[in-house]
Amino acid sequence: MNNTRQTADPIVRYRSVSKTFGDLTILHEIDLDIAPAEKVAVIGPSGSGKTTLARLLMTLEEPTSGTIEVNGELLWHKRVNGRLVRADERHLHKMRGNIGMVFQHFNLFPHMNILRNVTEAPIHVLGLSREEAVERAVTMLEKVGLGDKLEAYPSHLSGGQKQRVAIARALVMRPSVMLFDEVTSALDPELVGEVLAVIKEIAREGEMAMMLITHEMDFARDVADRVIFTDGGTIVEEGSPEQIFHDPQSPRLQAFLSRFRAGSGKEVMR
Ligand SMILES: Nc1ncnc2c1ncn2[C@@H]1O[C@H](COP(=O)(O)OP(=O)(O)OP(=O)(O)O)[C@@H](O)[C@H]1O
Ligand SMILES: [Mg+2]
Repeated sequence: MNNTRQTADPIVRYRSVSKTFGDLTILHEIDLDIAPAEKVAVIGPSGSGKTTLARLLMTLEEPTSGTIEVNGELLWHKRVNGRLVRADERHLHKMRGNIGMVFQHFNLFPHMNILRNVTEAPIHVLGLSREEAVERAVTMLEKVGLGDKLEAYPSHLSGGQKQRVAIARALVMRPSVMLFDEVTSALDPELVGEVLAVIKEIAREGEMAMMLITHEMDFARDVADRVIFTDGGTIVEEGSPEQIFHDPQSPRLQAFLSRFRAGSGKEVMR
């Protein structure tokens, strides 16, 4: 990270964020800042809370306690007479416009062609004219290498192509932070590379902050400015890719990485 990033106000700020489901505490008082344009990879064992961390930011899951700010504004709360109260749906809706997410499963609209899959939200959520939306969508689809598939329907695309449409669909909204959650883990191995290459390209040119949850350690090393290791609902260790992958400090991270190495890129003990 360079100095400007360290001093700039964060785009995302988690403060003492906890999440419980019933009796289970899934996240324990998480503090996490993401700087403008920073690429943060999140690694950690299955069940350690990575997806939940992203879902809280995407407003799909509500924190049990703590606050999250995006662009300096509270996400889940409003301040009324100095007290924090839960924000209403209108506020959440507005804030959601700053955040884009791509999941493991693409959920494209099967009855719409690729272009329409990408233009729907800019037209209906951002209120762009059809022409503006099409222009933006075509640019994005070209960027992800699908400029020749505008008229195709999702059922005619490979898994990797569908996932690239999902990426274009999120990017077309121009969010200030993008969340990628295991976007390649449902793909056939031979399709993983093309999707990771697209994300790397976007990351390289990008003004956008990114949270990249991944089991692809080489990808995390290549793309991230900072890597966060979660285990048991806490951030156990964080640092540069160099520090995390070549000089891990905590026994839990050391054990996690050695399981990966033993499994030649896959975590073998879940
Ligand atoms: N809606 C829910 N209700 C109850 N428990 C949940 C819910 N969502 C997640 N959990 C639990 O929270 C824990 C953390 O889940 P999460 O999906 O955040 O883990 P993860 O790190 O993303 O794992 P993976 O690598 O397998 O995707 C798990 O034990 C999971 O079973
Ligand atoms: Mg997950």
